Amino acid sequence: MTAAGSVSTDPRCRADGLGWVSRALFDDDRIALRVGGGPPAGYAVAARYAVVPSVDRARFLLPLGAPRVTAAALLAYNALRPVTVRPIRAALGVAARAGVVELAPFPVLTVAVAVGLDPAEVLLADRLAVLLGGGVRYAACGVRPPDPNHKPTLQLFDAAGRPRGYAKIGWNPATRILVAQEAAALRALTAVAGVAGHPRVPRLLAETTLGRRAVTVVEPLPATVRRVPAGAAADPTAVLAVARRHRPPGEPRPLAGSSFLARLTAEARRAAATVAGGARAVRAVAALARRHGDGTVEFGHWHGDWVPWNLGRHGGNLIAWDWEHSGPDVPVGFDLVHDAFHRALVGRGEPVASAVDRMTAGLARHGTRLGLDRRRQRLVVDAYLMELWLRTWRLAEAGAGWNRRLHPALLDVVEHRLGD
Ligand SMILES: Nc1ncnc2c1ncn2[C@@H]1O[C@H](COP(=O)(O)OP(=O)(O)O)[C@@H](O)[C@H]1O
Ligand SMILES: [Mg+2]
Repeated sequence: MTAAGSVSTDPRCRADGLGWVSRALFDDDRIALRVGGGPPAGYAVAARYAVVPSVDRARFLLPLGAPRVTAAALLAYNALRPVTVRPIRAALGVAARAGVVELAPFPVLTVAVAVGLDPAEVLLADRLAVLLGGGVRYAACGVRPPDPNHKPTLQLFDAAGRPRGYAKIGWNPATRILVAQEAAALRALTAVAGVAGHPRVPRLLAETTLGRRAVTVVEPLPATVRRVPAGAAADPTAVLAVARRHRPPGEPRPLAGSSFLARLTAEARRAAATVAGGARAVRAVAALARRHGDGTVEFGHWHGDWVPWNLGRHGGNLIAWDWEHSGPDVPVGFDLVHDAFHRALVGRGEPVASAVDRMTAGLARHGTRLGLDRRRQRLVVDAYLMELWLRTWRLAEAGAGWNRRLHPALLDVVEHRLGD
């Protein structure tokens, strides 16, 4: 192996986004990877990718060999992308359709396996093609800076450039858990997703593991899906449909004695055994129980990451994807407060304290629709903040590192709100 960044080297040894993505995609010694060179002796080429725009600033791995597919990898779902990258993808896509990407001076990544070895044994794209029943011929992948919390996603295409699936790759403990949770959530949703009122949900096409990777493949979204705008009004009706799954409204039940509180308590204890802040979490859950234990709320399912960037519209229907944090038995209203909180924190870059104010105001606007008077609203917000800190801890514990936007600020806010 030569030095990272030089010609004809294996990108898996790089410390940047290209290194991270290629380690996740090609995590097997039996795969030979070369940028700018042919396959080693005794190896057969299995795929070629353009590294766009360059090895050092890689943003995409685009499949070569079929201009229509290269173009589709850039053009499909452009409406879902951040506005800053849309024009670049669109321009490159038009060039690719004309065959320019094949000719342009983009570095080429050559993927090869030993002659005689079935590529489906070692290459994710080939394994997924078999699992999806053929038809899948090409894969494309975006490249982002390395992040222990992110999952490389393979877009799978047939020979005509039609999207055939989206494969999220869990490559470390944190992301493996998330992709497995998403598969489980989608499986449970198959029965309810088609019913009127419930948001549409992409079907689960396959779930598998290959080596150290866990992979969940979902069906492609409709080609003309549009993002829900960042400033769109919150949607309490859809949130209620997710929570109730077409069951009638549940009877409000006390927080004390709920399986929800029991889970928070158990998780906080586990956190206390593993991190310094964990003891504070145990005290905060106890304070939550003291303050709100006899308060009653309806419990139901939640999406778990209900934000405009995980929602789209198509033909008058709402579509929700990214179900990896979904779960049952949480106070109804969690998705609504998560939405308001994250629009402020992530969407507008506000600090935790002001994001909390935004979600309190948001819940006040829709509280009646959710059956939440002022006292119950307070319970939902306090319980949600505790849940969110525990999620932050779970991810940190599984190797994704602490989310610095949330820790320790979130615990400070929770303690302040629950202080006796
Ligand atoms: N089934 C799909 N069809 C088309 N695009 C998809 C699909 N699933 C995800 N995407 C695209 O990939 C992005 C990331 O997927 P998402 O499930 O939200 O994962 P993450 O956990 O990385 O946010 C989405 O915002 C969307 O643009
Ligand atoms: Mg998402």
